[in-house]
Amino acid sequence: MSIFKPETVECNGETFRVLFSQDELAQRIAELGKQIDEDYAGKRPILIGVLNGAFIFLADLMRHISIPCEVDFYKLSSYGDAKVSSGKVQQRKDVDADITDRHVIIVEDIIDSGLSANYIMNIVEKKKPASVEWVTLLKKPKALKYHVDIKYVGFEIPTLFVLGYGLDYAQEGRNLAQVYVLESELDKKD
Ligand code: IMP
Ligand code: MG
Repeated sequence: MSIFKPETVECNGETFRVLFSQDELAQRIAELGKQIDEDYAGKRPILIGVLNGAFIFLADLMRHISIPCEVDFYKLSSYGDAKVSSGKVQQRKDVDADITDRHVIIVEDIIDSGLSANYIMNIVEKKKPASVEWVTLLKKPKALKYHVDIKYVGFEIPTLFVLGYGLDYAQEGRNLAQVYVLESELDKKD
């Protein structure tokens, strides 16, 4: 268990409050892993993490999957250092594995507008995998602008800026063991 789990944290001059505790995250991620285990029984899926944000979720999720599976990564950037998406996605790294005829599970930290997911889906589908599904720890349903079917969702959250457990604010805060929400946005209606 990490000892780095305060109730509130300061990050780049802003205050964030716990939204999901380490226990809540662990319990939900175990459920997602079990579900994937059952759905992919007899197969050998390849989990593709979307860097940077998904690396901690992927590492924990994978250890709840008991069937043989592989791992690879895409690296995208879209947010820059801001709290709202720049609206532009850039691919920084492609997957190394040949995913043609493979069962692909793409692992995201969060689906916000869906722009990144949509962008990746276009690239992945051209490679003719046997199947593609998505697993995301968090999803902001009301922020969705680009549709992608997400089969496995950890938690749906309001359109609020969150931090920790892989998610950053201007590259800080990824090392927090819990998911935090920007306190000044808590009374915001979406
Ligand atoms: P989308 O393309 O708008 O769906 O945004 C996807 C990416 O933006 C996620 O994979 C995150 O890396 C980042 N992102 C979206 N919302 C947040 C947030 O609340 N905090 C930190 N990063 C976020
Ligand atoms: Mg991400």
